[in-house]
Amino acid sequence: METVLVVGATGNIGVAAILGALRAKRNVLAIVRNQVSADKLFQHVRSKDGITIVEADIMAEEGVQGVVEQVRAGKLPTFQHVYAAAGGAYGVTPLRDLSTSELRKFMSINFESNFLAYSATIPYLLEQSSSTSFTLCTGSQGDIGARAAPAITQGPLYSMANVACRDNENTNVRFNEVYLATRVEVDSVAEKTGAMKTSDFANVYNELLSRPDIKSSRITVATKNDLKDLKYKKKIDH
Ligand SMILES: NC(=O)c1ccc[n+]([C@@H]2O[C@H](COP(=O)([O-])OP(=O)(O)OC[C@H]3O[C@@H](n4cnc5c(N)ncnc54)[C@H](OP(=O)(O)O)[C@@H]3O)[C@@H](O)[C@H]2O)c1
Repeated sequence: METVLVVGATGNIGVAAILGALRAKRNVLAIVRNQVSADKLFQHVRSKDGITIVEADIMAEEGVQGVVEQVRAGKLPTFQHVYAAAGGAYGVTPLRDLSTSELRKFMSINFESNFLAYSATIPYLLEQSSSTSFTLCTGSQGDIGARAAPAITQGPLYSMANVACRDNENTNVRFNEVYLATRVEVDSVAEKTGAMKTSDFANVYNELLSRPDIKSSRITVATKNDLKDLKYKKKIDH
């Protein structure tokens, strides 16, 4: 059975990725920062079946890289798919008041974490003989511009996705960006706030895993109507 490595596994989007992977009959290798985060994950997923947990610091250069090395050494399950959903830093400081140190903190949490996930796993995916995939979650805040630091940190994710779509177009890695234009929260919170539930958003990844024809694309999710019939468009025009 194939396995999905999930980075940012304990967040709203990471939990959706895990639920989607399990529904698509894949196992999950979930990176967590500590046992507290692991407990949070199991509480939201409501099952431990098919999930292997590994502790690593995804903010450190050697974090995800160390996980890949453990996989290569046979200490962890091999994986064929990656879902990057790290980040979630959501401050309200206006642009005119944003300090360089605060901006750097946001860039580190929201962008560099996903960049590190990509650079650590892509060589491993590329060297496999069968079809693999890398999925990155981004949000519409970067286009809306309502909150300075969260918006600015989405910009480099869009650009990284453009480059990755181009770089992997003719490889065995199916790179896609899931562009979220609505708020997704774990079910227990969404029931109170009215946001889209992770258990519903999970359908997007479940569907994407079974659609080898969707490659180098942005999948836009704005409403419940987008959960089953995926709205996708190639990111790069050659
Ligand atoms: N949720 C949405 O509606 C939404 C909408 C648009 C785009 N997105 C995209 O999805 C990303 C994730 O959103 P989310 O709502 O899932 O965020 P979240 O619930 O806050 O989860 C963020 C994940 O990143 C991890 N993380 C954050 N800072 C970390 C740190 N310093 N060290 C180690 N791990 C850290 C968290 O681990 P812990 O659990 O251990 O804290 C968690 O697994 C966003 O950055 C954005 O690009 C989300």
